[in-house]
Amino acid sequence: MNDAAPAQLDTFSRRTTKLAVVGAGAVGSTLAYAALMRGAARTVALYDVNAAKVQAEALDLSHGVQFVPEATVVGSDDISVCADADVVVVTAGAKQRPGQSRIDLAEATIGLMRTILPPLVEVAPNAIYIMVTNPVDVVTYASLQISGLPARQLFGSGTVLDSSRLRYLIADHVGVAVQNVHAYIAGEHGDTEIPLWDSASIGAVPLLEWARTGPKGAFDASVREEIAHEVVNSAYRIIEGKGATNYAVGLAGTRIIEAVLNNEHSILPVSSLLDDYFGISDVCLSVPTIVGRRGVYDQLQVPLSDAEYDGLKRSADKLRAVARQFGF
Ligand code: LAC
Repeated sequence: MNDAAPAQLDTFSRRTTKLAVVGAGAVGSTLAYAALMRGAARTVALYDVNAAKVQAEALDLSHGVQFVPEATVVGSDDISVCADADVVVVTAGAKQRPGQSRIDLAEATIGLMRTILPPLVEVAPNAIYIMVTNPVDVVTYASLQISGLPARQLFGSGTVLDSSRLRYLIADHVGVAVQNVHAYIAGEHGDTEIPLWDSASIGAVPLLEWARTGPKGAFDASVREEIAHEVVNSAYRIIEGKGATNYAVGLAGTRIIEAVLNNEHSILPVSSLLDDYFGISDVCLSVPTIVGRRGVYDQLQVPLSDAEYDGLKRSADKLRAVARQFGF
């Protein structure tokens, strides 16, 4: 996916970076807050059709800029507030209600993308677009066609959040720092997602070896199933309790923004268009992917067990069927 991109994309300084967040709801405003806290961008622009809401969020965030790395916050219901952004994060969309699946939001959200993407691309043609709105894989696939942008330039937050949930649960189980757990969730950001146990490791120890060599905490099949179930159902559980998820997805989105704006070439399980990934094509879903200033570079061909490949294929088939249902 290394198609040529304007050379100037690779040269920029933080002093001029601009992040635009589309949607000033719980996720968008939390993501803007997280980006400010981490000094991810010099300017944070919030766009929402609700003028009162977006202006209030921008004002509230502006009142805190004294406490974060130098930044300016602006907010407007005029899409030109996103002009010339380096990164545009799209969070606008219907909220998942208790018991509702992310896929249930597809029709409303795709309709919204048809409305907002063309004017967005007009004011920010060179931005890297990170879709967060659910169902993020189908929304990413549809948004590529709606926007006409190349596959490297528009991708979804995918299972970055799910992988963080998996790593948290593994770290908690064995009692090590989460930073030393390397494990990915692949596939749909949703009910068909799959943990890549075979390639997971804790420090330098393969996770499946940990039971034999690790100080404590085995990873037999029952533990793995329990953790996988907890990951898949985390969002439902949190939505039941507080009506929405926002903190972890805001932090996950900020992590992706940093990888782009700092040209990190980090490996993140973002949702991007697959083209003959172990024979899987024409669908957006998450696999470990190199992310940098030009967006998506390469999707890593992770060695998959037969069960993992079958799970990824099931995810792809489901997502492709949903996209076809809405004409993509
Ligand atoms: C979640 C939402 C962002 O998984 O889909 O929390």
